[in-house]
Amino acid sequence: MPHRPFIVGNWKMNGTRAQLAEARAIERGAARHAGVRVGVAPPFTLIAAMAEDGQAIVVGGQDCHAEERGAFTGDVSAVMLKDAGAGFTIVGHSERRAMHGESDAAVKAKAEAALAAGLEVIVCVGETEAQRDSGQAEAVVSAQLDGSMPRDESAAGRVTVAYEPVWAIGTGRVPSAADVAAMHAAIRGRLGVIYGEDGAAVRILYGGSVNAGNAAELLAVTDVGGALVGGASLTADSFLSIVSAAGTSEE
Ligand code: 13P
Repeated sequence: MPHRPFIVGNWKMNGTRAQLAEARAIERGAARHAGVRVGVAPPFTLIAAMAEDGQAIVVGGQDCHAEERGAFTGDVSAVMLKDAGAGFTIVGHSERRAMHGESDAAVKAKAEAALAAGLEVIVCVGETEAQRDSGQAEAVVSAQLDGSMPRDESAAGRVTVAYEPVWAIGTGRVPSAADVAAMHAAIRGRLGVIYGEDGAAVRILYGGSVNAGNAAELLAVTDVGGALVGGASLTADSFLSIVSAAGTSEE
């Protein structure tokens, strides 16, 4: 793996304050795996509490608004995430693209706002099952990258791509290692077109039904720089087995 692996939990709309105990257990476990960078993106309501709790994990948002402030009821800006203690935010998750109608342009604006606020950003891309079945997967993902990646000067060092095939999210189905390798190579190529030689420094995560059983195989694929984990990030036990698969324990 070219980079220190980055294992990120996306808690989605799961977790009340009771879940902070689990977060503390994740934190303690992460502290024993210095070779792995561990992130958790809880619901907005838990970011500040989790960020205060410890240094071994980086806490992030799951989305942000493209504007800094204003009349946007219900939204949270990147500046607010940063203020709450977040170090990164996810943008363009397929659930937001599908359920909130977020276009590539909207995702790009959010990513640029996140960078401007001093956050790192994880930009999600991925094809639907119909797009894969019709042989369009790489074209769809390339177009998403073209439209969604921030063009900020400082982008390359602070941007991560998460490849999450929509059909693999929450389904227990994962692409073959060969398909993941092919897509990550295609993404790497596209990042070179977008960022020039800086594109080589952009980390590419795989996401979609990553669990303790399949993590080692997925993380061993060329150019998989880590994982974006949904369901299996909700308990310290399952999340830490993925963290452990990603690196060498210092225990
Ligand atoms: P699952 O790991 O639950 O499939 O979710 C993946 C995901 O959407 C992470 O962002």
